[in-house]
Amino acid sequence: MKILVIGSGGREHALVWKISQSPKVNQLFCAPGSAAIGELAQCVAVNPEQIEKLADLAEKEKIDLTVVGPELPLTLGIADLFEEKGLKIFGPNRAAAQLEGSKAFAKEILKDSGIPTASFGTFTDAASAKRYVAKNPAPCVVKADGLAAGKGVLICTDHEQAEAAIDDILVRHAFGQAGEKVVIEEFLDGEEASFMVLTDGDHVLPLASSQDHKRVFDNDEGPNTGGMGAYSPAPVVTSAMHQRILHEILKPLLSGLKNEGIRYRGVIYVGLMITKSGPKVLEFNARFGDPECQPIMMRLKSDLVPLLEATIDGKLNQVQEVQAEWYEDPAVCVVLSARGYPGLYDKGHEIRGLDKLRHWEKGFVFHAGTTKENGRWLTSGGRVLGVTARGSDIGNAVTNAYAAVSQISWDGMHYRKDIARRAILRN
Ligand code: AMP
Ligand code: GLY
Repeated sequence: MKILVIGSGGREHALVWKISQSPKVNQLFCAPGSAAIGELAQCVAVNPEQIEKLADLAEKEKIDLTVVGPELPLTLGIADLFEEKGLKIFGPNRAAAQLEGSKAFAKEILKDSGIPTASFGTFTDAASAKRYVAKNPAPCVVKADGLAAGKGVLICTDHEQAEAAIDDILVRHAFGQAGEKVVIEEFLDGEEASFMVLTDGDHVLPLASSQDHKRVFDNDEGPNTGGMGAYSPAPVVTSAMHQRILHEILKPLLSGLKNEGIRYRGVIYVGLMITKSGPKVLEFNARFGDPECQPIMMRLKSDLVPLLEATIDGKLNQVQEVQAEWYEDPAVCVVLSARGYPGLYDKGHEIRGLDKLRHWEKGFVFHAGTTKENGRWLTSGGRVLGVTARGSDIGNAVTNAYAAVSQISWDGMHYRKDIARRAILRN
């Protein structure tokens, strides 16, 4: 088969790494990819939002399957375009991708389907939004409706902060078009977990559970980021909790989508708060989580390609052929980021030590934002590397990941020292 992966970050490096091991694949492309991805796939200089060009590429190269990494092409309708042209693509169509593209849409589906989630109100004018805030207890969470690269969620400890957040979004347009609406939510207390499933619209195939670390500093301090590290499995998702998530969330969600005339095919990422009263949905993503995808791909024993094909072909119920098998060993990903991230960050620093990890047996270093010049690796993004290791238990995986981190350095390198600490404390 010929496969094309769209994207260039750590998630796509992990997808390419896994897909490149499939005996079904004889040619692998990535658009645009990166220097590191180029070691496993042929990179083509087309960006994820250039969906027409991507369709041309898939036609020209006779690609058998395209796998979409990031959300933007999905909300732009890449799956609709590929389907019109008879090209196979893994990822939901534009209507289904609204689950991520519009928080207001997601909340309506949650409400209509009776799925547990924070109580909320949706507003386009600041005065009504502020009246809602005044009527409800603090803290609350103010969210820009659309895609805001993980930055459009403001946790407000009191009413003044919430009013300022509403003004930022609706009056000062801090998030541009993404902030034409705000969603204001009850603040939920608990432990977060990420739960991803493959779905063909009728059936779901759960992937291993995971937990992200959203804040930039240790002990969950500082601003939210795209994710500073992840581990899998997440012990908070016990087998009983797993069943509850399937029955209380995914089953009604698929029916709710069908009622809207939407057939979802692809991966649904459910961001959960595990509260005292059970699992509640914080958000949906229409794609694999990043960095969660990195430890999850490391733990997936089965070939990924038949699972993606079964998703597209509506055959996820044929479990004999498409059961996912997992390595028991947990995996941990520590993200190394650039000075300044998630704000404006430094670029162009030389990364030292990667050569020492070329034949690392305990894991793999996924590249999220690097380039290569004259044989030297340079930083080129906010999240730079995802150092991902396996271990006999979670503590051992953490030790292995940080041992590898200690070999790497550049000017301004930052990382959290407490990835998976919560999981270790539970053991
Ligand atoms: P979202 O993009 O909606 O998942 O929000 C990003 C992060 O903000 C989540 O991962 C949570 O850490 C936090 N968050 C969002 N909504 C809530 C909520 N209702 N209660 C508590 N924390 C929240
Ligand atoms: N790590 C969270 C996300 O991918 O949105």
